Amino acid sequence: MSAAVGIALTGSGAATPARVVTNDELSLWLDTSDAWIRSRTGIAERRIATVEDSLESLSSQAAQQALERAGWRPDQVDLILLATSSPDDLFGSAPAVQAALGANNAVAFDLTAACSGFLFALITAAQYIRSGTCQRVLVVGADLLSRWVDWQDRRTCVLFGDGAGAVAMEVAPEGWDGLLTMVMRTDGRRRSCLAMARQATSQVLHDQLQAGLGGFRPISMDGQEVYKFAVQQVPLVLTQALKQAGITAEQLDWLLLHQANERILASVAQRLGIPAAKVLSNLENYGNTSAATIPLMLHEAVMAQRIRSGHLIASSGFGAGLSWGAALLRWGRPDAP
Ligand code: UT7
Repeated sequence: MSAAVGIALTGSGAATPARVVTNDELSLWLDTSDAWIRSRTGIAERRIATVEDSLESLSSQAAQQALERAGWRPDQVDLILLATSSPDDLFGSAPAVQAALGANNAVAFDLTAACSGFLFALITAAQYIRSGTCQRVLVVGADLLSRWVDWQDRRTCVLFGDGAGAVAMEVAPEGWDGLLTMVMRTDGRRRSCLAMARQATSQVLHDQLQAGLGGFRPISMDGQEVYKFAVQQVPLVLTQALKQAGITAEQLDWLLLHQANERILASVAQRLGIPAAKVLSNLENYGNTSAATIPLMLHEAVMAQRIRSGHLIASSGFGAGLSWGAALLRWGRPDAP
């Protein structure tokens, strides 16, 4: 039997809307304060999409950067996976990204797993490479949850922001692997803790027939339940991923978690004995951008030359579903600085 094909993570990209909304601006219409939001979440400001912005455009910008940084031509891309819960088109926004890039040989489709979406998409993409089905894959995580929150509900709307991030993944040279281990979990029994559920409305077609009408309710969340779930389950999956790889927490270069709450980042790091200096965080500037948080943070850290080729990263996504997972990643490729 031939050895499994290795994975290399060779490019990243990110894009966010230009409009910055500070905590103080939120308190213009909400009974909230900068002090409350900062102390409970670590968030100072977020980017909010205006009517001119689109998920497809931000995703395409992020994907284009990842493609260029990986040094690929658009026609070399085999697959584009777009993790999102807020597509511009419910039939899928990935084809629009494919068209914008001119990646005409790629198959492109969406994957929905809320805040775990990017990590699940990365793990899914890896299977296509390992099986020999694809050579080059773009994995995009993007969400515009500002379009789906209730802007009068201070318990949820202050948490979220908009953005997109992308990673280029390709077949690795022999002896290299950028995805060491992975764990994925779902507990659908607790799906109502965090949901953007169908709005049950109907339309009368004639006196014997009422059809349903498409539509969704704004995001609802039991914040405390989700918080407890995250601080309990995320350390467990990360520990499992480390154990599977035979790696200790001390060997990690970075902890890259879904950016939901600074207190969750600190609690998980503490449970694993990872020093604060190794915990990546950009919550302060972007809030929770759902499927975009991990690639957005990754791209910033790569651009700042904090994450460098060969660095070992423990990553975990968690959120609605409930869904959660972890992966141990090695950034870059052997011939890169
Ligand atoms: O990406 C998916 C994953 N999502 C998460 O991981 C979110 C996890 N949950 C959390 O991060 C936290 O639970 C929150 C940040 C959402 C809330 O923090 P908390 O410390 O759990 O606050 P709380 O819900 O217990 O609320 C405490 C108080 C309440 O007032 P009373 O009942 O004690 O009088 C709330 O009404 O804070 C009040 N409150 C606010 N006050 C000012 C809630 N939201 C706000 C607000 N501004 N925005």
